[in-house]
Amino acid sequence: MTELQGFVIRKAEPPDISQIMQINLETLPENYPEYFFREIYDRYEKAFFVAETEGKVIGYIMCRMEGGVSNFGLRWIRRGHIVSIAVLPAFRRQGIASELVKNSMKALKTEYNAKEIILEVRVTNLAAIRLYDKLGFSRIRTLQAYYRNGENAQLMAYKFE
Ligand code: ACO
Ligand code: ZN
Repeated sequence: MTELQGFVIRKAEPPDISQIMQINLETLPENYPEYFFREIYDRYEKAFFVAETEGKVIGYIMCRMEGGVSNFGLRWIRRGHIVSIAVLPAFRRQGIASELVKNSMKALKTEYNAKEIILEVRVTNLAAIRLYDKLGFSRIRTLQAYYRNGENAQLMAYKFE
């Protein structure tokens, strides 16, 4: 558990999922049915975190594990994948997303033995791209027409030393 000014970052729990889904709907075009959140929670709960203030969930991060070819060399590796992260607009620019990502990065490495972490982000989403830049992620390549509206994704990756 991490204490920011007036916020707590803690592991997600099943009763949080309805609030997490609501934040996801309000903040991102990529929305998922409840079973998707539950399945990620059931399989990777140790890397699933929420930010909370006054008993209300105001941000979340969820991740999964997968195998794949390294983005830093020709090896097959276990890697974490940041599936979705969001913070409600009223609570942004206070370091909450940074803290959520740091908690998941640590859990992916120590609990799930991830060697790298990847994610996709809209090429126009400069706020998120800068967040990942700041945390040490590299911009790997763009994925053409990755999103349903035809927009490109920036593939970003982080390698644990
Ligand atoms: N403009 C420019 N840079 C920004 C912005 C912005 N609006 N927001 C964050 N950053 C960068 C800055 O470098 C910032 O550091 P600074 O404040 O010291 O300058 C750094 O990111 C860290 O910011 P945080 O305060 O930790 O981020 P925040 O809690 O505001 O959340 C987030 C950032 C998650 C991108 C938020 O804006 C959000 O929820 N957006 C909508 C959902 C979204 O786009 N999610 C990411 C999609 S990609 C994916 O899920 C894999
Ligand atoms: Zn993805």
